[in-house]
Amino acid sequence: MNQYYLLGRSGLRVSRLALGTMNFGVDGFHAAYGRTEEEAEPIFRRYLEAGGNLIDTADFYTAGESERILGRLIDRAGARDRLVLTSKATNTTDPTDPNASGNGRKHIVRAVEASLRRLGTDYLDLHLLHTWDRITPVEEVVHTLDDLVRAGKIRYAGLSDVPAWYAARAQSYAEAHGLAPMITVQLPYSLVTRDIEAEYVSMAQTLGMGLTAWSPIGGGLLSGKYRRTGEGMSGTGRLTSPDAPGREINPRDWRVIEVLEGVAADLGRSMAQVAINWVATQPAVASVVIGASNPEQLDSNLGALDFEIPADARRRLDEASAPQLGMPYGMFTPQYQSWVVSPGLGIGDKPAGYAPPVFNGATRPTG
Ligand SMILES: NC(=O)c1ccc[n+]([C@@H]2O[C@H](COP(=O)([O-])OP(=O)(O)OC[C@H]3O[C@@H](n4cnc5c(N)ncnc54)[C@H](OP(=O)(O)O)[C@@H]3O)[C@@H](O)[C@H]2O)c1
Repeated sequence: MNQYYLLGRSGLRVSRLALGTMNFGVDGFHAAYGRTEEEAEPIFRRYLEAGGNLIDTADFYTAGESERILGRLIDRAGARDRLVLTSKATNTTDPTDPNASGNGRKHIVRAVEASLRRLGTDYLDLHLLHTWDRITPVEEVVHTLDDLVRAGKIRYAGLSDVPAWYAARAQSYAEAHGLAPMITVQLPYSLVTRDIEAEYVSMAQTLGMGLTAWSPIGGGLLSGKYRRTGEGMSGTGRLTSPDAPGREINPRDWRVIEVLEGVAADLGRSMAQVAINWVATQPAVASVVIGASNPEQLDSNLGALDFEIPADARRRLDEASAPQLGMPYGMFTPQYQSWVVSPGLGIGDKPAGYAPPVFNGATRPTG
């Protein structure tokens, strides 16, 4: 865990495993599987002891409880300065107030100020737009985030759960006008959710954004504790709780789980460790935001980077989980390009060392 990557095209050093805290607190959204402050503290402490520095929360999690609890835990641990404290805003904090949600300047500034109060700090290291609100002009968002940087309320800006065209527009606008860049895009990414590969990975590499991946084990699905039954699935955890979030689990997911189970057994690792390792070592991924319900889960998952997935095992995982990207993305494969774009040459025909200076969030190019 004592390995840090630069986040996007920035000088910010972040752990390759981030601690997600949307289950800290027992109120509001996510309360069904929330943890009290007493339960959250050993999880948080374990993460710090392991050398982790990237903490993820949002104003919306457990109706602000996640931030309040986190603020107290950080204070008790005396760890504020060494942490890369991240929060987000977009979702409503007061359904009766039209400006208590969305990405307009009025809400974002007020949301950051409220997050700072709840967290008991005077700056966030990183603030993300939680999601696209489909209304606010991207220019307004980029200027608002830049103003927050200039005001010293946030150190860096980023995005979460926005369309790729929107992220590209935001980054290009910021670059053209000398405004604070978007150093990260936080997105769902796991062996059962590979949709982002169509657009976001090459966007992030081209525009200098490090991807941060949320729900790397599908909220517990890839831990192996759920089993397919005739009518649905068995197992105990967030996904079988009455308020289970997320999407339906389909036959393809079960096939991925089966292959993952085989690979994990071959490697002598837990399924969750292999699933997290796979995400952490995918192109453009800077950090993986993991969640845990207790310190034992976290402890085990923190071992996810202590080994390498051998090439053959990786191929089995890649094939079982391959996303069906559809058109026009089917035209961007090496095979299609070798037929149509540069027949007889193939994509791999460039001389060694010719690759453009892509920064994938891992290491800066040396040449
Ligand atoms: N930007 C966004 O829109 C967005 C959206 C979602 C999440 N996030 C961030 O990402 C973080 C992580 O998301 P996530 O909690 O869905 O991630 P995850 O790592 O895929 O799932 C974590 C959950 O899986 C179960 N689990 C973890 N390790 C396990 C193990 N070793 N064995 C068995 N079960 C295990 C636990 O739930 P149970 O014990 O209840 O089964 C745990 O709470 C969140 O806290 C949040 O900070 C961001």
